[in-house]
This record gives sequence, structure tokens and C-alpha cells, in this order.
Amino acid sequence: MERFLWLPEAIGKTASEIDGLFNLTFAIALVVFVLVEALLVIFMIRFKRKAPGKEGRYIEGSTKAEVIWTLIPAIILVVLGIYSSGMVYTIQETPSDVYEIKVVGMKWAWEFEYPNGAKSMNDLRIPEGKNVLFKITSKDVIHSFWVPEFRLKQDAVPGRETQFVLYAQDVENLNQKYEKRVICAEYCGNAHSKMLADFTIMPAGEFDTWVAEEKTRKKTDGYSIALANGCTSCHSIDGSKGAGPTWKGLLGSERELANGQKVVVDEAYIKESILDPNAKVAKGVTGVMPAYQLDDETIGYLVKYFEELK
Ligand code: CUA
Repeated sequence: MERFLWLPEAIGKTASEIDGLFNLTFAIALVVFVLVEALLVIFMIRFKRKAPGKEGRYIEGSTKAEVIWTLIPAIILVVLGIYSSGMVYTIQETPSDVYEIKVVGMKWAWEFEYPNGAKSMNDLRIPEGKNVLFKITSKDVIHSFWVPEFRLKQDAVPGRETQFVLYAQDVENLNQKYEKRVICAEYCGNAHSKMLADFTIMPAGEFDTWVAEEKTRKKTDGYSIALANGCTSCHSIDGSKGAGPTWKGLLGSERELANGQKVVVDEAYIKESILDPNAKVAKGVTGVMPAYQLDDETIGYLVKYFEELK
């Protein structure tokens, strides 16, 4: 795990490769910058106007100078081009032993699905020392899966699957949680900036236990359900403004729908709004929520929670 100047930690082979390219490009640019600025200062002093009204000598062009300033950048570009196109192939190779995680972007949360069927919301966990293949897609619009530590962004496109391989290299002996480090890097609407997920690298044994438990874990308190489903990305619980209506005082309140009709928010309305959010959209609500497949029991726990927030 090398770190260069202001860059965040580099995790995985791809990140190290990309940092190598970045460092080379940066070094070349630094040399050019220092050279140009130094010449500028030298010329300013050396060729200063000698007397008022006296003009400098006109130069009509120089083949030698033109060849030099064309050839040097051309060589630099060819070197960088060969270096980076080779890297594209290295990055796209998929090793045979991969641990597959499905990544689904949606307005405005990230869902991660593990090989055993366990799903986590806004909480990405990977086992250390294993190659991980992320298969990325979207439920609604284009999002972009980005962990700055991986250095690479990958678009999440509805109806398509893109992928990103995290090579195990440098993912050893890490037991670390990176808070809000899965970032959506493609503008996708109201709560785009809040489309964040935690990212944790766990020792393999601990990870296996976690992923097995996650599959059967039944969440019973409303707040955990809200967190686990990413509800809180858009709905506040303290009355503050979000992409969706705040949950504080929502239950029992009267709302005006887009068509002018008035409804009282009761259990049935909440259930319908979760399963089919477009059925009765409140007036002035612009963010369109995706449908959530929650069972009656879970919705019951949520309604209980709404009761507390009254
Ligand atoms: Cu999803 Cu921006």
C-alpha cells in the first residue's frame, strides 16, 4: 500500500498500476512545468525592454525550434499511450478464482449481493486476500461505482452488467472499515451526493461468519430496517428536508396528492407507498422512489417505528 502525496491509500493491483501511470505522468508534467516557468522568468529578465519605445527583434520562424517542440511532446505521448493501453489489458484480465459480488445502484443507495444470496444495503464487505469480481448494474438510471482506494470508476448501467476486478494483492492483513467510501460518481438526481456506502475489508474467517449470518438475519427494529434498505438516504427522521418526505410526524398526517386528492397517511398508505411508490405520489415530491419488496412483517416493524416518530 503505497501512498503518493495527497492520494488516498491504494488498494489492489489495479490501484498500484494506475498510481504508477499517474506518478510517471505527474513527474513528466512537473519537469515540463518547472522548465517552462524557469525559462519564462529568465526571458523576462534577460530580454527586458532596454529603453522606452524600443521594440524587440521580430523572428520569422525557426524550423529547428518547431521540430524540437513537436517531437518531444510526440515522444512523451507515444510512451504514455503505449504504457496506458497495455495497462487497460492488465486491468481487464479476470483471474479464475474470484469471489463474486453483485452491485446494484438505485436512487439513492447501493445494494450488494453475495454468492450465498445474502444482501446488504449501503454496506459493502469483502474478505481479505481474495480476488473480488464486482458485477455492476443499476435499477433505474446510470450511476457510477467508485471507491477512491480502487482508483477506478465503473458505470452502473440499467439493463447491462459492467465489471471491476479487485485483485487480492495489497488486500492482505487489512481489517479496516472505510466509512462512506463507496461513492456514486455519476450525477443521478436529488440525493446523488448522499449515495454513499461503507466499505469494510474483513479477515476471511470473520467475513464468512458475517455473510452466513447476514443471509438469515431478520431485522426487527424499524430504524435498522430503514438503514438496511437505504431509506435514510432520502427520508430524514428528524424533520429535515430530503429527497423524500421526512418520516417525523408523517404517520397520521394529511397529505395532498399530485391530483389534488387528500389522503391520511395510515398503515395501508405506507404499505402501498413502499411496494408501489408511484401509486399515490404526494404533491411537490419530485424524487421517484424505487419499489421495495418488503414482507408484511417487516412493514409492520416500520409502521411501529413511524408510530414512535409521530
Ligand atoms: Cu447515483 Cu449519483
